[in-house]
Amino acid sequence: WYAGVHSSRNMPWRKPYDPLQGPEERSQRAYEVWVSEIMLQQTQVATVIPYYTRWMGKFPTIRDLAAANIEEVNALWKGLGYYSRASRLLAGAQKAVTEYQGRLPDNAKDLEANIPGIGRYSAGAIASIAYGEHVPVLDGNVHRLMSRILALHAPPKAKATLDILWAAAAAMVTPKGNIAVSSKGDDSSKQPLESTQYAGDINQALIELGSIVCKVRDPLCKSCPLRPWCRAYGISTSGSEPIADIE
Ligand code: ADE
Repeated sequence: WYAGVHSSRNMPWRKPYDPLQGPEERSQRAYEVWVSEIMLQQTQVATVIPYYTRWMGKFPTIRDLAAANIEEVNALWKGLGYYSRASRLLAGAQKAVTEYQGRLPDNAKDLEANIPGIGRYSAGAIASIAYGEHVPVLDGNVHRLMSRILALHAPPKAKATLDILWAAAAAMVTPKGNIAVSSKGDDSSKQPLESTQYAGDINQALIELGSIVCKVRDPLCKSCPLRPWCRAYGISTSGSEPIADIE
């Protein structure tokens, strides 16, 4: 099960990772992923697609965006809400052009430290998808997915909880790493999970899995490729605890 380019959902910002790309093309990819991730932060995929397409038509490169004014940017954002996202994109583009020769930093640490509006999640998404860096993402979908895999009963926003979930998400994209959990009650095809693939695809697969399969209500455990490793599934099939109670 692989969400990257094989997803049944088509998304214009998804393109196969090309390891032979040069820095200029990668930075262009980073710009595209950045715009899509910021739009996706509070908005559903289906709503974002036409906005993303119009945005790229008007501002195809980060330099085009940096040269725009806030009225043009807001006009393209009209209807998406949370306009501060649009002004931060503009500010970020201007900083990238004036201070970094129009290139977005090529790693999560510098993206988060230096570009306005890029937090830990967006930095991980951009660095992994556009640059192939082995860094995790933890959005609401991956949070839920990892919480269930670990059968974590803990306050969802507590720092200790988030530290555990970020570490679990990191294990998924760490080369040759494996996730040190096992489930009781399902002995089918248990193997260490190797994460030697392209981190951007793994992250997008996890986001997709969280939103489409590991849903808040009525998760589709029967179609989940991570079921053999899922403690919540093991508990729910061997005992009394329904999976919907595990958040
Ligand atoms: N939501 C946030 N980022 C996403 C992505 N890259 N693909 C699909 N849904 C997303």
